[in-house]
Amino acid sequence: MKQITDLKYLFEPRAVAVVGASANKEKIGHKILANILSSEYKGKVFPINPRGGRILGQKVYPSLLEVPQDVDLVCVAIPAPLVLSVVKDCASKKVQFLSIITSGFSEIGQNELEEKIVNLTRQHNMRILGPNVFGIYSAAAKLNATFGPAKIKPGNVAILTQSGALGIALMGRTETEGIGLSSIVSLGNKADLNESDFLEYFIHDKQTQVVFIYLEGLKDGPRFIRMLKQITKKKSVVILKAGKSKRGALAAASHTASLAGSNKAYNGISKQCGVIRAESVKDAISRIKYLSHSPLPAGENTVIITNGGGMGVLATDVCDRHKVKLFNDKPALKKIFSKVTPHFGSTKNPVDITGQAGVAEYQQALNQAINHPLVHSIICLGCQTAVLDLPKLAPVLEAVFKKAKANFKPIVFSFLGGVEVEAMIKDLKRKNIPIFNDSDEAVSCLGAAYFSYRFINAPREKLYFSQLDLPLIKEMIIKAKAEKRKLLLPHEAVNVMQAADISLPQDVVCSTAVQAVTAAEKIGYPVVLKVISHDILHKTETGGVLVNLNNSQQVKAGFSQIIKSCQTYRPEAKIEGIDVCEQVKAGVETMVGARHDPTYGPVVVFGLGGTLVEVFKDVNFRSVPLDLRQAKRMIRKTTIYTLLKGFRNSPRADIQALAQTILKLGTIIYHCPQISDIEINPLNVLENGKGVKALDVRILLS
Ligand code: ACO
Repeated sequence: MKQITDLKYLFEPRAVAVVGASANKEKIGHKILANILSSEYKGKVFPINPRGGRILGQKVYPSLLEVPQDVDLVCVAIPAPLVLSVVKDCASKKVQFLSIITSGFSEIGQNELEEKIVNLTRQHNMRILGPNVFGIYSAAAKLNATFGPAKIKPGNVAILTQSGALGIALMGRTETEGIGLSSIVSLGNKADLNESDFLEYFIHDKQTQVVFIYLEGLKDGPRFIRMLKQITKKKSVVILKAGKSKRGALAAASHTASLAGSNKAYNGISKQCGVIRAESVKDAISRIKYLSHSPLPAGENTVIITNGGGMGVLATDVCDRHKVKLFNDKPALKKIFSKVTPHFGSTKNPVDITGQAGVAEYQQALNQAINHPLVHSIICLGCQTAVLDLPKLAPVLEAVFKKAKANFKPIVFSFLGGVEVEAMIKDLKRKNIPIFNDSDEAVSCLGAAYFSYRFINAPREKLYFSQLDLPLIKEMIIKAKAEKRKLLLPHEAVNVMQAADISLPQDVVCSTAVQAVTAAEKIGYPVVLKVISHDILHKTETGGVLVNLNNSQQVKAGFSQIIKSCQTYRPEAKIEGIDVCEQVKAGVETMVGARHDPTYGPVVVFGLGGTLVEVFKDVNFRSVPLDLRQAKRMIRKTTIYTLLKGFRNSPRADIQALAQTILKLGTIIYHCPQISDIEINPLNVLENGKGVKALDVRILLS
């Protein structure tokens, strides 16, 4: 049966029933009913309890089946063993949505009971929120069907939370912080509806402008990524993710797999999806508060206005860290600010109106910035001085904020001083003015707005899929699988590279030292020798690779040395032969990988190559598919980029060819689910225009 995908009647139910409504004020079923009744919900409410009677003035129905009309949403707050029978009643009553508050399912290993419930709801076209949730609040329906705080301020922030306790705490915190909510949804066990279903709903929900997600694990990573990419083109999304590093230490068969388990993959992919990442609840609250009350900027020109030079310099550094770009057109700045800056001040950005600035000087300078079309956002800083009348400044800052907002100019304030400054900050914060005693927090909020702004306005490029000889690759996979192998042999990996048009050094597989010498003479010295054995994964560690062999004697001796070393290291290893390869000219040694990540689906990774990949962890992940611009961006975000763009006397490397290689590996992994990991390490990036060479390729099968 086709599932309901439109969540309208979960967020705007026409009638709600509470199964387990109790007269006992201490019980969750009572709290939920009380919250619904006190929340100005306009639909009908039906308390259900076999005892009947009246609770909170409402007629109680002994069973859902006795309710005289259709019900869109049923909140279930009875013990776990009783839930299935209520779900059957819901099916008879053709209910659309169930919010199952009850705990005691998969979270404690009771998977079977949860599965039974899910199967039944699927058969009857019903959707479940939960189980193990605190419920749902929806401003659109003025419905608080949670057992959290009764009073929730309506607004434009939607919260999705995997942790119930944190969610309830957040409900209280948003109230004290003056953050208005469009909805709050407790995800619980996500037996049916998950974070992606809700993101899909929020994309079109007009009331939601900012989405905050507290996440522990993902149900369907690839779909979540697709939804994130869509929603962040329109709205700001802040995510606080827990458990990012738990899997980092997992032993894995490739560097890519091992690194993907760290929070590197999450960081790269969330950036690619336009997610504003929060590192703590405090961080998240400060950003969502700012984003919910302030417009996004219309351009990149930020101006700092300060009465203290030092504070301005410090904020400049912070701007750099949070990617807030300071307006740097000195003649234009002079024109805008010279009238409001004393001659011993500075009109260069930071605009220093000096320590003698009083309320009027601040007002004039800020108005200049707000009124001038070349200024797109403002950072207003201040140190407490004897000439700055704080009680008079506060209403001015409030008026300036309102004016800036009306002009679609984001503004943040940061003031430093004693008790009076702190009092002013507290007072203005209560009025939702973005003022802080820490310039880092102020600028980080503006940085979050810029992150969203850039993502919304970034040019959309076509997702890149390269040409691929897919039948050839599949043929090799089938052969390896038939031989019960978990990896492709080097010559097969070479064939895959050729099928994807990835350039390799010339090579010949040899089984004797004489053959190796003949091959080396044909290829031209110097050459590299590499062992071929599917029992040996890490060739360098086993002494299975020799480089810089310049003549026939060295090749001959090298051949025996490799065999001996591999046999010592791993006596049981079957050695299929020795690969004699062209030794590629010096370039930048990088690593490019791709894998089917169990959480995120197909991903690519790029970073510093060689044997120390996992030590330096100078890598960056992206989800596949991606476009050329994103591939180049992931290159730029690594430290090795410093070498690639040309360092001291070394020339610029072929970054275009490197980016295309990343996209080619992405194309292979996207089209071949039987491949679990591909890793080219090293991938030598030659001088600009000369391409890349894949020096060693490892392909693992799933
Ligand atoms: N239909 C309607 N009502 C029924 C039914 C039924 N089939 N069967 C029983 N009831 C009534 C009960 O008689 C009782 O009413 P009463 O007070 O008039 O006797 C009421 O429903 C509730 O049943 P109880 O057995 O008293 O259950 P109780 O309220 O103690 O607990 C609950 C139920 C809250 C669902 C509990 O089992 C539970 O799961 N608690 C944890 C909830 C939770 O934490 N969820 C995650 C939230 S997120 C976070 O972590 C904060």
